[in-house]
Amino acid sequence: MKRILIVDDEKNIRLSLSNFLKVEGYETIESEDGEEAIKLLDREDIDIVILDLFMPGLDGMEALKIMKQRHENIPVIMLTAHGNTERAVQAIKHGAYDFLDKPPNTDKMLVAIYNALDMKQLREEKNELESLSYGKEKLIGESTLMKELYQQIERVAPLNTRVLIVGESGTGKELVALAIHKKSKRKERRFIKVNCAAIPSELFESEFFGHEKGSFTGAISKKIGKFEKADGGTLFLDEVGDIPLHLQPKILRAIQYGEIQRIGSDKEIYVDVRIIAATNRDLQKAVSENKFREDLFYRLNVFPISVPPLREHKEDILPLTNHFVNQIAVENNFKSPSIDDSAINALMNYDYPGNIRELRNILERVLILSSSETISDSHITSVIGIKHDDEHYGDDLKGKVLSTEKKVIEETLEKYNWNISKAAKHLGLERSHLYKKMNKLNIKRQR
Ligand SMILES: Nc1ncnc2c1ncn2[C@@H]1O[C@H](COP(=O)(O)OP(=O)(O)OP(=O)(O)O)[C@@H](O)[C@H]1O
Ligand SMILES: [Mg+2]
Repeated sequence: MKRILIVDDEKNIRLSLSNFLKVEGYETIESEDGEEAIKLLDREDIDIVILDLFMPGLDGMEALKIMKQRHENIPVIMLTAHGNTERAVQAIKHGAYDFLDKPPNTDKMLVAIYNALDMKQLREEKNELESLSYGKEKLIGESTLMKELYQQIERVAPLNTRVLIVGESGTGKELVALAIHKKSKRKERRFIKVNCAAIPSELFESEFFGHEKGSFTGAISKKIGKFEKADGGTLFLDEVGDIPLHLQPKILRAIQYGEIQRIGSDKEIYVDVRIIAATNRDLQKAVSENKFREDLFYRLNVFPISVPPLREHKEDILPLTNHFVNQIAVENNFKSPSIDDSAINALMNYDYPGNIRELRNILERVLILSSSETISDSHITSVIGIKHDDEHYGDDLKGKVLSTEKKVIEETLEKYNWNISKAAKHLGLERSHLYKKMNKLNIKRQR
């Protein structure tokens, strides 16, 4: 049975609407103000909202904005005083599905509800189809190790438990995080990803907690932080080992009590966020070296999931290859070639320091370089295992500067055992700046 949330400060309107809709076969929930309605929407499974525009306290327009921010897929039908077209148009601009004059004509109301539900369903089906047909976000692999991984995902997804995903680079940690979110009760809400290594340290607090207008130089307008954005959903802290030590207590508090403060405001905001974190670093070691707070580590590491390196489940290379070849062909609009046994053998003989991401990159290079209908071992061996240092930047000054820069960065990272913070300090760079350079120059740790 579809559930309708009726929000109106006038009791009589609520009651008559509710009675009428019950007779028509809907389940109804009533609320007398905007703030309470938002809480209900966060907590309950609601299909559609009927919202009065003028209410004391948080009025309909403000409530609408927050609702659309947090639950963009739930349609909202506004009730407005007769003839107030301007406000109605404004409401539509802010994402309302439709508006009806007050008191509403019951036939018109039923049609609006019917259409809104229809649209919601279509949209959900479309999203479902997109993720299925593209398969981009699907985990592939039937090996014992992958099956164990799926079991862990199934077990932990429906709970609110915090998860720490560990594994080498390119093993699929982000896909695991997404899979957990999609199988959780929060799946209709947002999945917000933050790459902790990529945020400049002076912007960290504002990224996570937001700020009020004018709270510091450069804060030209109000900003909603990631914690607030993820309210009701999942916050994915990628590269969590890179949260600067001095900011870890604040993150800890936000995680533990769901309590945050925007910079420049003393108001406590409560958020309901599920935390999933990922790292390719040894966090326990970082803790023992006093580089990561022990209390934060234990808060994050409630349910650890370890994603295996590809060399430990090579039997998945075949299905992964088929999957990627199709995907790459669709993305680039060409016919998918067939992959013969010799090619699969060649792929099986490689060690994949860059794991599944590297397998995909190899296949992408092969498919782009060869227009042949059948891919065999020679196609594979010609691109496999080519290290990025073979990259050629050209002989002009710019090219030479780039390749020297790359060499210096790689040597420094090596010296500091790929600790980005330390290497950045040595090079006189901000950590996030070094991280961006590493991405740009394609610098990755080779095992
Ligand atoms: N089991 C899998 N099935 C299908 N695709 C996968 C799988 N694992 C990884 N991929 C693909 O490989 C690439 C890398 O995966 P992902 O970004 O999740 O890795 P990661 O562990 O987060 O890497 P990093 O530590 O570098 O951030 C992505 O394109 C992802 O779609
Ligand atoms: Mg990742």
